Order: sequence, then structure tokens, then C-alpha cells
Amino acid sequence: MRKNKILVTGGTGYIGSHTAVELMEEGFDVVIADNLYNSEAVVIDRIASITGKKPALSVFDLCDREKLDAFLDEHGDISGIIHFAAYKAVGESVHKPLEYYRNNLVSLMNLLDAMKKRGIPHFVFSSSCTVYGQPDKLPVSEDAPVKPAMSPYGNTKQIGEEIIRDTMSVGEGINAISLRYFNPIGAHPSALIGELPRGVPENLVPFITQTAYGLRKELKVFGNDYNTPDGSCIRDYLHVVDLAKAHVTAVKRLLEGKNKTSYEVFNLGTGKGVSVLEAIRSFERVSGISLNYRITDRREGDIEQIWADPSYANKELGWRTVSTLDEAMLTAWEWEKYIRKQ
Ligand code: WQD
Repeated sequence: MRKNKILVTGGTGYIGSHTAVELMEEGFDVVIADNLYNSEAVVIDRIASITGKKPALSVFDLCDREKLDAFLDEHGDISGIIHFAAYKAVGESVHKPLEYYRNNLVSLMNLLDAMKKRGIPHFVFSSSCTVYGQPDKLPVSEDAPVKPAMSPYGNTKQIGEEIIRDTMSVGEGINAISLRYFNPIGAHPSALIGELPRGVPENLVPFITQTAYGLRKELKVFGNDYNTPDGSCIRDYLHVVDLAKAHVTAVKRLLEGKNKTSYEVFNLGTGKGVSVLEAIRSFERVSGISLNYRITDRREGDIEQIWADPSYANKELGWRTVSTLDEAMLTAWEWEKYIRKQ
């Protein structure tokens, strides 16, 4: 049976590489397009160590339409695209708004236009719970109002979803699914791939593991005066492998024509809120390390609490998380120890 070929943009990145592994293990043929702005080509070798096969990697910028067309001329048998490639640092986006709007939106529009012109029918978009801002009601479901974005990064996700929705509505022969991630954490159980932020990590879990490893002096907990049980912010942390599997489920839904409309949106989370202090305790439990952290002021732009109502993804998409917080934390720690020895 001819294998379906899936293009994974940003496939040497954190979620993209984990998704490439799950796609390949499901029998898909994977080709990766990445400009290596925030990742390294060696990830392809590590994917090969896990799956036994090296995905093809083409290094170019999706904003360069000529390069994208040349790539698609070479890969005329792509059945679907999973689009991860984007700048994603919330803080950085505040200081570089034009770079974020140009990079994240031009790349998306280039892909959609090329798909329309070449009859590539299926598109899965990497979106984020950041589109909800601070929801009025928790847990948050897909019909919750999208609120004004708290950062240019978050706005590129909102605008990106609108561009996709409007493109689908004119019946261009493309079907799309947007997956709104909550907080992905952890690493592949092989410890061969994981999150590798450049410079000082913005996100909580890589900062925890780097502190535990001795690369950072201490973890700053950004505020414990929120209106939450222990005063620290609450998030919905899901294992990146569970998240990767959702992308395989989504692309199969489209390939098998099981989507109900040409554009669907799913929240991907555990449905359980976890505070920063609870996340720290989880790490300490699984690593046996007492973490050096200090409560400091709130971080500007942080919302107080958010966690998903994943029932629509559970029921309609047929996907749910299976890993616990402790399991995810342990994989994050195993990955940190592996990568620091490379
Ligand atoms: C989680 C909690 C911090 C670091 C962001 C993006 C979102 C998605 C995931 C891309 C917050 C606290 C953090 C630290 C801390 N990214 N924290 N000390 O902000 O929920 O979401 O990353 O799609 O779009 O917005 O994740 O990990 O940065 O923070 O106390 O050194 O940990 O205040 O409460 P966030 P995060």
C-alpha cells in the first residue's frame, strides 16, 4: 500500500520532532521542512535512532515562496501538511512584533496558497490555548470566546486561525484542523529528543530541569499572590508524546474523511489544572532533587489560571492524554541529563 507522505514544517523542533516520530511509527512517510532558526539538523539522526528511518530534511524558509515551490515540485506526492514552523517566544514577540507577524503569517499564507494551487488536501495547524487569554469560565472549551491576544505571538495564532477558517470557507478543496495546545512538557521516553530552548528558557519545565542540572542558579517562581489555592499560577501540562499522537489522529481523521466540516478546532489538554508549586513538587518527587527556587514578582502578561475541557477532543477526535504529570516530568529530567552529555 502506498504510504501517505506528510510534510512536517518545523519538524526538527520540539513538538514537530515528536510528531515526526509518531507519524513514522504509524507508517507514514515524513518529509521535514525547517529553517533551523530554533533547532538543529542533528535531530534528524536522533529521530532515525528512535524509528530506524531518517526523515528527509529540506532546510529553507517557508517565507521564501520560490524555495517552497521548488520543494513542492520535488515532493509532488504530499497528502497532507502539519504546520509547526513559527517563532514562538511570547516575550520576544513583544519586542519584535513585525518579525513575528511576517514570519508566522507569510509562511502560513504561502503554504495555504501552494496547497490550493497544487491540490494538497489536508492541513493541521499548531495553535495554542493562548488564544483564550484569561477565560471567564474554566475549564475552557472550544466555544469559549477568543480574547484580545496578550502578545504578538498569541495574535499570530489568532490571525492564523482566522486565515485558515476563511480559506476553508471558500471551498478550495482543502480541509483543516487547528489544534490548540495547552502546556506541552516532557520528552520522548528514549530521551533522544526533547525541548532544547536556545539561551535562557522562557518556559517553566526546561527552567526547572536546567536549574536541577546546575545550569541555572535558581528557579524564580513568578508570583504566589494569585487567587489560586497555593497562590501560584495554574496551567494544563500535557506530555509532548500525547500531544504528538493527537497530530497523527488529526491527520488520519482528514485522510479518512471523518472530519464533519472543512475546518475544525480541538483543545488538547489533560483537563487538569496544576500550579507552578505543584509542578515543582512533581519534579522533586520523580528526580529526588530538592529544587532551588525563590518566589519573585509576577511575570507581565501571565494569566492566572487556565486548563482545558478536553471532552470534545476525547469524544469527537478520539484522542486523550494518557501520561501523568510525574511521568512527563521524569522524561523531561532524563532528556536534560542526556542532552548535557552530548
Ligand atoms: C508556565 C507557568 C509562569 C517560567 C507559554 C505560551 C504558550 C505556549 C506555552 C507556545 C506560568 C511560570 C515560568 C519560570 C515561572 N507556548 N513560570 N518561572 O506562559 O503558560 O505558555 O508557553 O505555544 O503559548 O504562552 O508557559 O512555561 O512560560 O509558564 O514561575 O521561570 O510557569 O509564570 O505561570 P505559559 P510557561
